[in-house]
Amino acid sequence: MIEVAGVAKSFTLHNQGGAVIPVLEGAGLQVAPGECVALTGASGCGKSTLMRMIYGNYLVQGGSILVGGLEVAGAEPRAILKLRRERLGYVSQFLRVVPRVPAIEVVAEPCLAVGMGRERAQARARTLLTRLRIPETLWSLSPLTFSGGEQQRVNIARGFAHAYPAMLLDEPTASLDEANCETVLELIGAAKARGAAIIGIFHDRAVRARLADREVDVSRFAPRRSDGREQAAGQPVSGQRQAHALAGFRVKARAVIRCCQGGEFEPFSLSEQQTTEIRLSEAIIRDLVECLIA
Ligand SMILES: Nc1ncnc2c1ncn2[C@@H]1O[C@H](COP(=O)(O)OP(=O)(O)OP(=O)(O)O)[C@@H](O)[C@H]1O
Ligand SMILES: [Mg+2]
Repeated sequence: MIEVAGVAKSFTLHNQGGAVIPVLEGAGLQVAPGECVALTGASGCGKSTLMRMIYGNYLVQGGSILVGGLEVAGAEPRAILKLRRERLGYVSQFLRVVPRVPAIEVVAEPCLAVGMGRERAQARARTLLTRLRIPETLWSLSPLTFSGGEQQRVNIARGFAHAYPAMLLDEPTASLDEANCETVLELIGAAKARGAAIIGIFHDRAVRARLADREVDVSRFAPRRSDGREQAAGQPVSGQRQAHALAGFRVKARAVIRCCQGGEFEPFSLSEQQTTEIRLSEAIIRDLVECLIA
């Protein structure tokens, strides 16, 4: 269902003298229907990057990524959107909230998008929101004001609304309490049982032991340096290190400004840590502005 072969990825920081950060080289894995493969490896080794390439969010620089027969590397945007609508689900660690859309609509939307009737789609959404313990009083409200954990559960409900044949799960159980974690594990187990091909990032070893049929250590795909040693992603060679840090800071600063202006940023292009930092900075700036106005 998912076949990744010989995939390479590096990031070029155009606004920092074109510094190149190599992240992956020769990455490969295969996932059959009904199978769950866990991506492992140290923070910054490129797990989320690989997932975002499979989802078509990051450009692929070399190699091939086949999902249900579609070559994602180089596919038309229209084909990628169709793939995402019908065949490839993605539960990111953060919900991308569209302002003013009620939680129940957020969850029902993937079902409506594949042609399910409104009644059935809403019933499916209600079932999932109930299973994930989102109080009914919140269903008609926008998840924008929900707690982090509530947003994550809405995100999971949305991700599992339509029965995708392939699914990408980036830390779906992170920061959930035990009962909700158990529910998510059941949802993933049921998706496997109905034949979904799943790639997951699960930091919790017990979760991996329960769900994963195989583990793929992504740090195996770290690019080799010219001296033949492995170069760990996230630790660019000396001259590039400062440029990398500066570029990261600028990306975050711009995103914080956009948030404070009432806009949204594109969390897919950032690491989880960067996204958290942006959310925190936004909250601090909002408090600061309130103080100044008061
Ligand atoms: N849009 C981007 N621009 C520049 N560098 C990026 C971008 N996205 C990821 N990176 C870099 O690629 C490397 C791999 O990041 P990635 O988010 O894939 O790591 P990860 O293995 O998922 O880590 P974690 O376990 O912390 O989530 C990091 O050095 C990161 O800074
Ligand atoms: Mg990650």
